[in-house]
Formats: sequence, structure tokens, C-alpha cells
Amino acid sequence: MTTLPGAEWWRTAVIYQIYPRSFADLTGDGIGDLPGITAHLDDLVDLGVDAIWLSPFYRSPQKDAGYDVADYCDVDPLFGSLRDFDDMLAEAHRRGIRVIVDLVPNHSSDQHEWFQQALAAAPGSPERARYMFRDGKGAGGELPPNNWDSVFGGPAWTRIVEADGEPGQWYLHLFDTSQPDFDWTNPEVQGEFRRILRFWLDRGVDGFRVDVAHGLVKAEGLPDYAHPGHEVDAMGGQHGEVPFWGQEGVHEIYRDWHRLLAEYAGDRALCAEAWLPTVAQTALWVRPDEMHQAFNFNYLETGWDAAQLRAVIDESLAAYAAVGAPSTWVLSNHDVVRHASRLALTAENPQGHGIGPDSPGKPIPEVGLRRARAATTLMLALPGSAYLYQGEELGLPEVIDIPGEARQDPTWFRTDGERYGRDGCRVPIPWTADAPAYGFSATGESWLPQPAEWAALARDAQTADPASTLSLYRMLLSARRGRGLGAGAVEWLESAPGVLALRNATVTVFANLGEVPIRRPEGVVLIASGPLDGDFVPVDTTIWLVND
Ligand code: NOJ
Repeated sequence: MTTLPGAEWWRTAVIYQIYPRSFADLTGDGIGDLPGITAHLDDLVDLGVDAIWLSPFYRSPQKDAGYDVADYCDVDPLFGSLRDFDDMLAEAHRRGIRVIVDLVPNHSSDQHEWFQQALAAAPGSPERARYMFRDGKGAGGELPPNNWDSVFGGPAWTRIVEADGEPGQWYLHLFDTSQPDFDWTNPEVQGEFRRILRFWLDRGVDGFRVDVAHGLVKAEGLPDYAHPGHEVDAMGGQHGEVPFWGQEGVHEIYRDWHRLLAEYAGDRALCAEAWLPTVAQTALWVRPDEMHQAFNFNYLETGWDAAQLRAVIDESLAAYAAVGAPSTWVLSNHDVVRHASRLALTAENPQGHGIGPDSPGKPIPEVGLRRARAATTLMLALPGSAYLYQGEELGLPEVIDIPGEARQDPTWFRTDGERYGRDGCRVPIPWTADAPAYGFSATGESWLPQPAEWAALARDAQTADPASTLSLYRMLLSARRGRGLGAGAVEWLESAPGVLALRNATVTVFANLGEVPIRRPEGVVLIASGPLDGDFVPVDTTIWLVND
């Protein structure tokens, strides 16, 4: 059924990100799978989410944990089969949970049939024209076509050996060498992705999270990038003009997809993963005829600071309202340091670098968790749609002490260990305190090692404890839904410096980000992110109050 404009589900939904390889492993090989998701859908109903987004489960050599897709229309045997997918989808829908899948259109795997055909074909052939092949610079073509760097470190170009055994052309890969970029000016590429969209829409998915949605189109002539000379966030946030991010041409692709989705009933939605310097720029991805949502990474990247948070909340509400889209809110995902650790870091930590044993400014765990709970309690009071990342409802911290030999993120390899990368937020999650791999897999296998302290954070250890992070998330989600906060509006209330006070519908939100406890306003405390001290709200604590 299609709803009236303005009432579509994605405008207010709380969407839970499942990172399939780390969610639940039913086969016991140490990698999560689709049947594992189906088996835990009731836990997600109990948590109170409206939808799930699944990171890639497609056929893939797994060089970038599945973001290197070899076949967009099949399930990798690691995760199960198309039948398992259909079962999972039907079971989710039966419980009223919508399902969003990940679409990776910027690049494929080098094992994709098209890339293998391109390698076997000659320069200038139609097979090569699906990707970004160019001749090198220098007398013998021995230099890369331009100076672009890969997001994962090192050059963004790799030279191939031609069929005659001689060094030949170069291909562009904004990410790993195993992830060649498509040429989106090529109608064949455009047509293929329309087919892929239809394949999943026909199966019944409710939408797509679109990977690197700001990167598909590159500046004409592939000019050198005038690097600002300081550390920049890997995925594109905080950059100025970059010839491979945020080019005007990408918008036409999303207008096309918007029309395609509109042919289907049920308010199917597109969500942009677009890392752009400002909220106003990101809002361009959700103009009325383009995508429906964009991740609010500007919010995610804002530190634990009352004035800055108020500014980004105001900016977001205004910028998205101006294009008729909801703002989204997000604090964690599979690419960033988990917010239970990030919010207590005391040194700069650019996105994608991660934290490890030798990182400066490591967080104090108690401070991180207290802030994370307060930050989530603030976030879930905001109108619009919110994204949660599996494990944050358990208060999981970033895992810092992963031994080098266990790390798997290509970033770690491409920078020779200079950047730890993203493994620390991808460790398989704990379900049962007293079970092998904390119930992640029956055999005790786990593709990344789980920390010894995680028994106390396991879901079953938190379920009956009213003070647990899991109970907090449950209460927040239930009150958010019951009181219609997703469709509400923010009215700021007067407050002391370091404090954020706002009203949304019947709820007054009071967040103390300052340095001293503050007396709370009148009202009945509905939810508190941490223990209160009489009428005082301690630092790093958020409460919801009601007067009804
Ligand atoms: C963004 C994804 O979230 C990330 O995990 C991946 O490595 C890159 N895009 C490349 O696909």
C-alpha cells in the first residue's frame, strides 16, 4: 500500500543496521548468516525497531567484507542462499519489520564477470568502457593517470598486465585494488543497475542504502586533486572541492532511480551514504525527485558539545525541511569508532583510522558508555528517522586490542598498519553470557576475536536489568513510538551553558553535557540515561520528562 505523501514509513522510522557477518552465525563457521538474522527477528521486535538495513550479503570474495560484489543478484554461500533471503524477508514482514538492502554501485569486485571480461579485452573495447581504464602518464605509461589516493590509503590506480604480457592500462579504484570503479557515463552500467534494483524490488525489499552515493560520477577529464595538505576524513566528509566526490552528474542517476522506485507500491526508499562537508550539501541528495533519506554524518561527526550539537540539529532540521525530507540521525555504523568509545576520545581520530593498542587519547570506558547513553537518549528524542547499529543497544565499545594478525580491514593492510581501520566496530555481537562466542556461533568460532569482558554485555545478561543499556533502548524506542516523536518538532527551551533543553510533542528533553550537575526542570522523569542525584542531573546524562 502506498501512503499519503508526508506519512511514508521512512520519514519517522528507527532503522537497525545489521552487519550480517557479525550478527548471528547459525552454521558455526564464525561468520554470521541470513538464517541467523531470521532466528533473531523476535529480539528486534522486542527492541522496538521499525526496519532493518542489511550490509552486503551478495556473492563476493570478501576483500572489503562484502562491499566488493561479484554478483549483485545472488547471496554469497557464506551467508546462505536466495531462499534464505526470501525466508528472512517474509519473516521480517510478518512481524511488521521493513527490510532495506545495501546497493554498491560505485564499484564491483575485480572478480565480477564484467571486470574479468575487461581485463581480457583490449584497450578501447566496450568491455573496458564499463570501468575507468586509462593510459598512464610518462613516456611508457608508467605513471598513474592522476594523483588520486584510495580512501583505504595508497594510490587509487592500479596498472594491469595486458593479454600480451606487457604492462598496460591503469584502472581506477577509489577503494581497494579489488574494487574497480564503474564508469557511470556508460549507458550499459546505468541499465545494469536498473536491472539490479528491479531484481530486489521484485523480491519485496522496502528500499536500498546506497553505498558511496556521492562518488559515482568523477569530474570531466579526471583532473589532479589539489589536496588541502592536512588529514581529511577518508570517506569525504570535511573535504572542500574534490574531483571524485559530490559531482553534479550523480543527481541525474538518483532521479532515474526515484522514478523506478515510484513504479512500485509500498513507499520504497533510497538512503544515501554520502559523506559531504555540510548538511546543506547532503540535503541535495534528498530533493523531492531524488533519494528519500541521507545519513546525517554531519551529526555523527559532531563532538560531545552542547553548542555544536544544537547548531547541527538546527541546521539539519532546516536544511532537510527545505527540501521536504526528514532529517536522519545516526551515531554509529560499521565504518566509524563505536560511539560508546568515540565520544570519550581525547585525541583527533579521523574517520576510518580506528583505534588500536598504540592510539593516542584512548577513551575511558565508563565515560564513553555514560556519554553514549546520554547521546542516544538525546538522538532518539529528535523528529525524523534514526539509524542504530547492531550492538549499540548493548552499549558495546570499540574493540581496541585486536592483534595485528587478526585484523581484516583493507585499510590496515594498505597503510602497513599505520591506520587500524574499522575492525574494532565489527566484532561479532554477544547474545548469551555463558556460551561459546557468547552465543554468536554454537561452535565458538568468530571471524574477529571477542573481548573477555563481553559476557556482562551479552543480551541475556541485560534483558532483565532495568538499568541496562538494552532496557534503556527499549524504553526509548517504545516511548518514541507511543508519543509520536518521529513526526514531532523541536522547540528549544532556555537552558544553562553546556545544557540542551528541548521539547518535542509531550516530552521535555534535558541533556547535561556540562561539567557540573544541574537541577532538572519540573515534571515526571520518564526515562533517564543514567542514575540521577535527587533533583539533579549529573554530567553526561540526558532525561526525558513529561507533565501528563
Ligand atoms: C562505504 C561502506 O560503508 C564501507 O564499509 C566500504 O568499505 C566502502 N563504502 C566501499 O564500498
